[in-house]
Amino acid sequence: MARKDKGPAPPDWDKRYRAGFYDGPGAPHDLLVSFAGLLAGRRVLDIAMGRGTDAAYLASRGCRMTGLELSSEAIKLAREAAGLPAYPVDIVRGDASGLPFKKGSFGGVVVFFFLLREIARDIAEILEPGGILIYETFLKRQNEADRRRNPAFLLDDGELLSLFPGFETIHYEEGAHDRPGKVRITAQLVARKA
Ligand SMILES: C[S@@+](CC[C@H](N)C(=O)[O-])C[C@H]1O[C@@H](n2cnc3c(N)ncnc32)[C@H](O)[C@@H]1O
Repeated sequence: MARKDKGPAPPDWDKRYRAGFYDGPGAPHDLLVSFAGLLAGRRVLDIAMGRGTDAAYLASRGCRMTGLELSSEAIKLAREAAGLPAYPVDIVRGDASGLPFKKGSFGGVVVFFFLLREIARDIAEILEPGGILIYETFLKRQNEADRRRNPAFLLDDGELLSLFPGFETIHYEEGAHDRPGKVRITAQLVARKA
């Protein structure tokens, strides 16, 4: 699949999944569970859905789900984990650097632990007016607390909020959002497109 020239090249995620380097969250992210009610009944896109834990959770809550994911290994794992012939998520294998969706296609977009800051405007455009964005990913400060990650894929303090100007902020929080056994210094944003 052709890659649009947006942002740094991602690591080899197929290799990572095959090696068991990234086993996914196991349960939907706490931020998503807290704000899932805002997405009820909406058509929702999970960008970089990984093994699809969040997407399957939202489908179980009545959202019409699309999951975008680059790694065919992750997609395979998502289908295996669901254990269903008809997985209740419309999976699109694709590169988020060229979002293959029309403007205003979704009533909600969720993004967890994925950053391509160059597509923030594209994310805003595929949301319909009044659409809900739920986004959480690592701050650069994570590198002081954990293994070193490529800073190109980490946020500066205050950056996530600034990537979506004109949105109404419902929740914004930066700092430690740890899970048992996992240190996480993240920014969390829940916002509504005007
Ligand atoms: C850290 S994982 C997060 C997965 C999931 N959102 C979660 O929170 O568990 C990052 C995911 O982004 C996917 N990814 C990386 N670059 C991508 C791209 N350009 N387009 C779509 N997915 C991508 C990887 O395959 C991987 O599944």
